[in-house]
Amino acid sequence: MEFGTRTIHAGQPSEPITGAIVAPLFQTTTYQQIGPGEHHGFDYTRTSNPTRQRLEAVLADLEGGTRCAVFGSGLAAENAILQAYLKPGDTIVVPVDVYGGTFRLLDKVFEPLGAVVRRVDFSDLGALERAVAARPKIVWLESPTNPRLLVYDIAEVARIAHAAGAIVVVDNTFATPYFQQPLSLGADLVIQSVTKYLAGHLDVIQGAVIAKDPGVFEPVKFLQNALGGVPSPFDCWLTLRGVKTLELRMERHAQNAAAIADVLVAHPKVTRVYYPGLPNHPGHEIAKRQMTGFGGMVSFELEGTVEDASAFVSSLTYFALGESLGGVRSLVCLPCKMTHASIPAETRAALGLSDTLIRLSPGVENPRDLVADLKSKLDALVTVPALVAR
Ligand SMILES: Cc1ncc(COP(=O)(O)O)c(C=O)c1O
Repeated sequence: MEFGTRTIHAGQPSEPITGAIVAPLFQTTTYQQIGPGEHHGFDYTRTSNPTRQRLEAVLADLEGGTRCAVFGSGLAAENAILQAYLKPGDTIVVPVDVYGGTFRLLDKVFEPLGAVVRRVDFSDLGALERAVAARPKIVWLESPTNPRLLVYDIAEVARIAHAAGAIVVVDNTFATPYFQQPLSLGADLVIQSVTKYLAGHLDVIQGAVIAKDPGVFEPVKFLQNALGGVPSPFDCWLTLRGVKTLELRMERHAQNAAAIADVLVAHPKVTRVYYPGLPNHPGHEIAKRQMTGFGGMVSFELEGTVEDASAFVSSLTYFALGESLGGVRSLVCLPCKMTHASIPAETRAALGLSDTLIRLSPGVENPRDLVADLKSKLDALVTVPALVAR
């Protein structure tokens, strides 16, 4: 079955009693038992719920896994993996530019509990080889990264990590399973901020963990119930609705991102464009190998000051100024003042995050409108030298 067919059919048969094409929402906390301890497979919704079960089935299928557990947010999903696999004294290796929420979870929660966090530049595989000499329990990465969209070689990272006895966790939020399948590249666990492209409509906060090997998955599944960070059945129902159009949406997101990257590259007010589809982008060749498309995100640096960048991001018509990404409506973000504001300025500079770096999450609007919006606001920044009177 092809990907777009699976988004609609995998794990989602019509409801057997009435034939309803869209299975009803099981908005219930508990289930009437036939006799004490005798039930229809469900006893309490924190443990299991028919709507959630359908969502877990389709997400496992789309990532090429066999198991999935969904959570109340991407960070709740990350927490379950870390609780399962990172005990006091254990080491985890992460990229220097790991997503800020993951950085905070490690820095403020797991390091104080005794975990050892080693931060490495994952584009330098020699540095990674040296870091895994510490025998980490987990090697964790995202690709493409946020906000510079750098691409790391998942298969090579997995090879190095596995040789050192670590499990490999890949945050596949930016690429989605439509463009990238980390489990087939050697990852043991995939985490998704479902909040983004999978749900896709900017109305659900949710996370997921997907695995191929039931043995690797089991400790995370146990913690889904034991920690209790589960999403509501209604949020699962909304994601089931959203995910059905994942292929269509990702195609349009990617088309819009490519069209926007072309405009940005050609514009005199733009000093640098970050988009994995550009031949000079760091990791472009790896992206061509490990992804089936370049994704839907574009970042760029604007000429000028942070004030100029602030004014620019506030001037756009179709790109709402807001955090998050991956929704049907376009969003724009100035990381230094928004998503990455809590990172000290020197650290941001060391990570290559300039104060005029702008992150775009094009939605699924018509590309002509998005391009015209950006181009007209960029053109307005080009100062025409005043004509000198003769
Ligand atoms: C790459 C990545 N991973 C994980 C998360 C966390 O997901 P959530 O916001 O659903 O907790 C985010 C959120 O922005 C993200 O961008």
